[in-house]
Amino acid sequence: MQFQWYPGHMTKAKRQMQEDIKLIDLIIELVDARIPLSSRNPDIDMLGKNKARLVLMNKADLADPKKNEVWSAYFKEKGYFVVCVDARSRAGMKEIQNTIAKACREKTERDKRRGILNRPVRAMVVGIPNVGKSTFINTYAGKACAKTGNKPGVTKGRQWIRLNRQVELLDTPGILWPKFEDQEVGLHLAFIGSIRDEILNTQELSLELIRFLMQEYPGSLAARYGIAEEEDAPQALGAVARIRNCLGRGGEPDYGKAAAILVDEFRSGKIGRFTLEVPGRSG
Ligand code: G4P
Repeated sequence: MQFQWYPGHMTKAKRQMQEDIKLIDLIIELVDARIPLSSRNPDIDMLGKNKARLVLMNKADLADPKKNEVWSAYFKEKGYFVVCVDARSRAGMKEIQNTIAKACREKTERDKRRGILNRPVRAMVVGIPNVGKSTFINTYAGKACAKTGNKPGVTKGRQWIRLNRQVELLDTPGILWPKFEDQEVGLHLAFIGSIRDEILNTQELSLELIRFLMQEYPGSLAARYGIAEEEDAPQALGAVARIRNCLGRGGEPDYGKAAAILVDEFRSGKIGRFTLEVPGRSG
């Protein structure tokens, strides 16, 4: 499958990111817990060197819980602070708050030595499109947050959200660009729905998905659709079509309709919680 990306957007996003990074102490990088490698761009490591780093493995509610642990360990090993999170829920926000304090301890100590007290940590959220950046900012900042310095006529430049006494967040997230030139990355982004469906062949995608599930999570399709997994992928898709009553006029399976159902149910977690990548093996 071929995917497209526009170099013009990429250059602009990168330039903006370079400017924004100068203003902050901490980078909060969101990755998708189902594809922790394909949903990040390692360029952020270069752009953000010398900054404190927090990786939020978002959509952890849709990912394999065991693999969430494996990936957390992987990122910690790289020297990042890590929290698994569902950005739609406030439940994990306290842990994030505590982890931000830890990640920025060095900076706070340095400030203290210089006699600077209580200067808030300045942070920015970054990540590829659809990873949950806006959702996270809304949940984390909540309704109570006040935008700082946004009085008309006073402010120039970037806006900050004062989260609490310790943290200020840049109000617009930084957009990272996925590594589309790698076809496996493209495929994984398509699986989770982060590529516009108009440019995808859903049927082909669903067959890839069936192959993945049969190999890595045997029994999951049988549990959801009651189909026999010893069949090959096209046969399995046909079985889904029959079971879900996706049939043409002559009673033959409507593969297109079945594919759309399968892909949709996978993305929304109805088939189960899955992680598509393992450290060192894919991405
Ligand atoms: P972005 O700013 O990085 O582009 O992403 P955004 O916050 O718009 O989130 C993209 C989609 O992902 C949204 O769904 C959002 O609800 C969903 N989402 C964000 N975080 C999580 C999470 O931790 N778990 C799950 N399961 N979903 C999450 P949407 O389909 O665009 O809208 P809706 O379904 O919420 O209406």
